[in-house]
Amino acid sequence: MATSINDLLNKYTDDRKNLIPILQEVQEKEKYLSAVSISEISNYLGISENDIFSVASFYSQFRFIKPGEHTIKVCQGTACHVRGGGRVLETVERELKIKPGQTTANGKYTLETVACIGACALAPTMVIDNEVKRNMTPQKVTDLLNSKNKAANDAR
Ligand code: FES
Repeated sequence: MATSINDLLNKYTDDRKNLIPILQEVQEKEKYLSAVSISEISNYLGISENDIFSVASFYSQFRFIKPGEHTIKVCQGTACHVRGGGRVLETVERELKIKPGQTTANGKYTLETVACIGACALAPTMVIDNEVKRNMTPQKVTDLLNSKNKAANDAR
């Protein structure tokens, strides 16, 4: 039976040692590890779905819930924290009405926090998809989200 990750799986031998690289590639492709994908990996490698879930849960990089169209990561590392990163996070939470780990009801944004993105000189920072936003303030957050929403509405 053809599956969404069949081609991907076929690049690997069915050796259990390939579990992590397969999980990483599936997540890269689908942005998360769906129950269907885990089931297919389970069949391919002969590892139970429970064992795959246990292994994947150990690594914070893997997620099991479909993320929103855009991922916002607000840095809460020390440098960002002392320069107002907490207020930046509060503003994103208030604007989007979600907490870290949650996705907006319209599936547009997923909010996460990170410990440091390695750009402390630009603190406080946040990352939208792969774009680093520097020297953030609550006002900048509001303006940014408004402009993204406006751009999305204009595109309709
Ligand atoms: S602490 Fe935020 S970028 Fe380093």
